[in-house]
Amino acid sequence: MSEILAETAPKKRMLSGIKPSGDMTLGSYLGAVKNWAERADQFDCYYFMADLHAITVRQNPADLRRRTLEQLAQYIACGLDPEKNTLFIQSHVHQHAELGWILNCYSMFGELSRMTQFKDKSAKNEDNINGGLFTYPSLMAADILLYQPDLVPVGEDQKQHVELCHTIARRFNGVYGDVFKIPEPFVPKMGARVMSLTNPLAKMSKSENEDTGRVLLMDPPEVIMKQFKRAITDSDTENCVRFDKENKPGVANLMTIYAAVTGKSYADIEMEFSGMGYGAFKPAVGEAVVETLRPIREEATRLMKDKGYLENVYKTGAEKASYVAEKTLRKVYKKLGFVAK
Ligand code: TYM
Repeated sequence: MSEILAETAPKKRMLSGIKPSGDMTLGSYLGAVKNWAERADQFDCYYFMADLHAITVRQNPADLRRRTLEQLAQYIACGLDPEKNTLFIQSHVHQHAELGWILNCYSMFGELSRMTQFKDKSAKNEDNINGGLFTYPSLMAADILLYQPDLVPVGEDQKQHVELCHTIARRFNGVYGDVFKIPEPFVPKMGARVMSLTNPLAKMSKSENEDTGRVLLMDPPEVIMKQFKRAITDSDTENCVRFDKENKPGVANLMTIYAAVTGKSYADIEMEFSGMGYGAFKPAVGEAVVETLRPIREEATRLMKDKGYLENVYKTGAEKASYVAEKTLRKVYKKLGFVAK
């Protein structure tokens, strides 16, 4: 009996997104998409290209268009089957922007000012500290709450935004009753914070240029190998592959990447490279990454040539997403006291 109930019980819902503000990196793959794909069968999943979020920093229109489609091709190539997952473009579902505005009115200035990402991005874009950059977390809260998900899988750097989403949802529910489900962030054990290969104290980021030590999902093998071979290890004289995040952050980062792509534990890795030094370790990590990314790059490249297929996926996805989002938005409008159309 309980088995029958388990089979018929509705699946829990999962939702997340990535900004097409730069080409997708190994960091976004290990911190986010890999974990989405591994859970696609257990959950009812919604994944989108966060183009509305991308414009908080100036974008070249042609690049933004190409990256949005390429990101969709990459989602599919990473294992997100469009038959099982709802894949869509954020700006195609107008309810995001609408609920985003409403939640702006339930987000406090102090809360938004405390967001680490706002502080970092304002420091990097001093000539363009726009309102969108500041209210970004309210739009992200709308992205999440529209779909009433149970889990929001993100990397470590987005956890603060999901926590603010809790606060906003609780505030709203506190006034109007149980409108929003309170979602949980889901941060992977391995790969939640992949660091730059040339500066292991900074996050690997898609908006930096190649020299800062990032690896892109679409990089060819020779570029990936070059990046790993010149990765910063540590200035100690030990030359020993040992996990010590505080004293050996470069080696720890490489070990995290290797563990995330091979499934090996840190102890296994220390044993595997015992007595071998960084000279053997760095290319081994590079090769493991090349082999992990090769099928993704090949499949994404193939899909990019089939624009008709991609269009069909994002149109169907937006239709499904809109249906769910509209239900929540109607409820919100009613609770607020807006006159029905
Ligand atoms: P974004 O586009 O910066 O990053 C996308 C996802 O990848 C993760 N990530 C990383 N994980 C580990 N190591 C790294 N170096 C690394 N770089 C990126 C991020 O944590 C994230 O999970 N605001 C979001 C996009 C968004 C969203 C949402 C996410 C918009 N609406 C609603 C969840 C729910 C962002 O800018 O992520």
